Amino acid sequence: MNTTVLAIDIGSTKICALIAEISVNQEITIEGHGIAKSQGIKKGAIINIELTSKAIRKAVNDAKRISGSNITSATVSISNSYAKSLNSTGIVNISNKDISIKEIKRVMQTALYNANIPKEYDVVHVLPYNFRVDDQDFIEDPFGMSASRMEVDVNIIMTQKSNLSNLKKAVRSAGIEIEGIVLSGYASAIATIDEDEKELGVALMDLGGQTSNLVVHLGNSIRYNDFLGVGSNHITNDLSMALHTPLQIAEQVKIHYGNMLENSNELIELPIIGDEDNRNSVSLDIVHSVIYSRVEEALMILAKSLDKSNLKDQLGAGIILTGGMTKLKGIRELTQAIFSNMSIRIGQPENINGLFDELKDPSFATVIGLLKYKAGEHTLYEVDFQQELLHSKDIHEDSLVDIKIGNSTHLKANQTSKQTSNEITNNRQQDEQASSTISFDTLPDLGNDTQSQFKKLTNWAKQLF
Ligand SMILES: Nc1ncnc2c1ncn2[C@@H]1O[C@H](COP(=O)(O)OP(=O)(O)OP(=O)(O)O)[C@@H](O)[C@H]1O
Ligand SMILES: [Mg+2]
Repeated sequence: MNTTVLAIDIGSTKICALIAEISVNQEITIEGHGIAKSQGIKKGAIINIELTSKAIRKAVNDAKRISGSNITSATVSISNSYAKSLNSTGIVNISNKDISIKEIKRVMQTALYNANIPKEYDVVHVLPYNFRVDDQDFIEDPFGMSASRMEVDVNIIMTQKSNLSNLKKAVRSAGIEIEGIVLSGYASAIATIDEDEKELGVALMDLGGQTSNLVVHLGNSIRYNDFLGVGSNHITNDLSMALHTPLQIAEQVKIHYGNMLENSNELIELPIIGDEDNRNSVSLDIVHSVIYSRVEEALMILAKSLDKSNLKDQLGAGIILTGGMTKLKGIRELTQAIFSNMSIRIGQPENINGLFDELKDPSFATVIGLLKYKAGEHTLYEVDFQQELLHSKDIHEDSLVDIKIGNSTHLKANQTSKQTSNEITNNRQQDEQASSTISFDTLPDLGNDTQSQFKKLTNWAKQLF
């Protein structure tokens, strides 16, 4: 059966809501969209819940109107501002020698438990980038393997509690429940990086309105993320100040004359701030140098950050640029000059059913990534913000060891995430005992008739054993 989903990218210049149908084959068809100017957001962080909520409501209502759907829960983006990441490792013994989802979940929980999460931070993603099975490294997918020990290296992405709680409040007061939260850079990466690039290692730079996000994808997962509170709006501010012209005019100058490839001495006439009667003659040469210096500065900071990641040498697929700022002419060439010897391309969402032309644009990489995340294009295994394990395995294919009468296989990770690895091991042993013995106290609800017959049978069996 198809499912209807809602994705909301809460960017610092626009909020975009998309409603789509996801088929059983994970094919996405967009049915409606709504775009609202962001309010109450500064450099990615919510600074006015009420205003942000109004803008979210507007975008969502427009998308609902177009799609005819009345969906009330959404997958939303969270900005990289106030985000942090750290690496951790988990090890578990596999006493029954068979790796099922349960063992994968346990090893991920152990890695999370072993990490030193600062108390003012909440976990948004736990992403495994390397599984080791009986000392064999770089296992792509340990599911179904026979082994006595499994280890995992994970990258844990977290955000400040207040940042997450403001996001939840703003979305909920727009009448929407949150069913998924995705780091915006991660979502943009999902929308733009292809399978070969993932394999080779790639850095994604989402250059937006007030922020620039860097994400490094290597070895099946995100390994590094960083944030810079500079985006294309800063170019507009610089132009406004340098040319003494209002912000709206500066924005138009940026969009129509922004060109870092060609230099020109042509003159343009611009209104002057506070002087409606007169106009200034400005050389495009000045426009060029204002834009060039701001973009160059931002890219240089991102270059330093990439150096800091110590992963730059492993990025065989180079750099993908996305976000609204990448519509600036010549940005690819300038990036190429700064990151010499790396291949650079502009990435934008494509090949999605119902993708309106308006959305085939680097500004919409994040929101399309949110839809793809919801359709299952996340990391092969992932512990999400609710500490649930996401995976794309059909649970029926799971090892029978997981199937216990009267007990769900979907154990909530937060029930065990704060356990010590010893407790986790003890629980595992108990789970294993439980799975090999049928517990008569935990029989499922089978309806009155069947239940009474079954009760008789169990009473009889209890007396027997
Ligand atoms: N041709 C262009 N040249 C330069 N900048 C442009 C161009 N077209 C749009 N922009 C800028 O792109 C920005 C919007 O980009 P985007 O939609 O990616 O931002 P956002 O997601 O809202 O913000 P953020 O990701 O920073 O939170 C605006 O600042 C806009 O001025
Ligand atoms: Mg953005």
